[in-house]
Amino acid sequence: MKDTPIPYDVVKQKIADSGLAKVGRATIREIVRLVNEIEAATGKKYIRMEMGVPGLEPSQVGIEAEIQALKSGVASKYPMIDGVPALKKEISRFVKNYLNIEVEEKSCIPTVGSMQGGMASFLLTNRCYKEKDTILFIDPGFPVQKQQLKVLGMKYETFDVYNYRGEKLRAKLETYLKKGNISTILYSNPNNPSWICFTETELQIIGELSNKYDAIIIEDLAYFAMDFRKDLSKPGEAPYQLTVANYTKNWIMLISSSKAFSYAGQRIGCMVVSNDLYSRRFPDLKRFFSSDEFGYAMIYGAVYSLSSGTCHSAQYGLAAMLKAANDGTFNFVESVREYGEKAKIMKNLFIENGFQLVYNMDEDKPLADGFYFTISYPGFSGEDLIDELMFYGISAISLLITGSERIEGLRACVSQVQRTQFEDLENRLKKFHQDHPIK
Ligand SMILES: Cc1ncc(COP(=O)(O)O)c(C=O)c1O
Repeated sequence: MKDTPIPYDVVKQKIADSGLAKVGRATIREIVRLVNEIEAATGKKYIRMEMGVPGLEPSQVGIEAEIQALKSGVASKYPMIDGVPALKKEISRFVKNYLNIEVEEKSCIPTVGSMQGGMASFLLTNRCYKEKDTILFIDPGFPVQKQQLKVLGMKYETFDVYNYRGEKLRAKLETYLKKGNISTILYSNPNNPSWICFTETELQIIGELSNKYDAIIIEDLAYFAMDFRKDLSKPGEAPYQLTVANYTKNWIMLISSSKAFSYAGQRIGCMVVSNDLYSRRFPDLKRFFSSDEFGYAMIYGAVYSLSSGTCHSAQYGLAAMLKAANDGTFNFVESVREYGEKAKIMKNLFIENGFQLVYNMDEDKPLADGFYFTISYPGFSGEDLIDELMFYGISAISLLITGSERIEGLRACVSQVQRTQFEDLENRLKKFHQDHPIK
């Protein structure tokens, strides 16, 4: 029997009991369940890097505002579908302060997380023109968005951006856009899972092509201001979070509160529609909605039918946090900087023990340290590496399920790993390296 940091026979048995043919092919939630079971059976704690849960406390400002709202009786009242005025105002200020983009309050709409913001967006953007019925993902990406499209019965195309950074992105995007069926381009920035951040050049290319081909951009800012190479924390001062909105008027932004404000449990996010797109009319929308005005159909067609608005008290919680950030009394970026600090140390531990970074550059700049990083080990496919690391008390997910073509890669998420576990991580990686010498 092999001598591994987590008892070999228990891990083997638990994997067999799970019924998973290959752990490396399992979904995030299946891996979570399996690791919970092994931890319970062995009493040993894993270095858990499989799931992107915020590992930090939310700000008191949000919690207190939410409690106050509940005490004042909002729980019994339906919220307005387009959001409470206090929140709409703060979202608009936030977009000006941290992106330097002007947007009217009416175009700022709370959603049940960015998850719902994405689903509502697809319902609109993919129906503006009869002939444009396909979403294009600049991958790697967040797998649930593709699941949403499957549920909606909508089509999508995708490519891995790994080999198409910088100017090369233009020709690659045009091969899709030229066909005339692409309604929307979606990407996250910083990117889940690779943590690449698009450069100004790349955003300009995306913006120009959005204009040329009349494609709507969904810019998923789930990790807002978390490119820690720059200080994006000062309201109303450059540098700002980079955005495609500087180059096109055809955009929707999804600003999640889950990671930047550690507010995932309350399921609230912001959908921001550009002023121009909000008031544009698309006659083909009438096939599905009572109005052909984009913003009106979004609110009273899509958001209404999905959930009749967003949790009333959570809107007050988020409004208070955004207000504090806008007023400069709450530095939300500082509170999440810890992810970047941990990533730097953890990446080094992996590299010292024979691992390699998979996505490692933004054009000519090394990648930022943040919420995720991607790794591989010579001689292993991503799937096999996940299987093997289970015996070493380390869990992650395969890049395969994210639309990446780097089949050797894993995504590691730093949020749930505690600094007190770094010693364990180092010892386990050393043992892995010893047991799997690189030829
Ligand atoms: C890229 C991306 N988009 C959207 C989401 C979902 O955000 P929310 O919790 O606001 O629904 C996540 C969460 O992990 C994400 O990584």
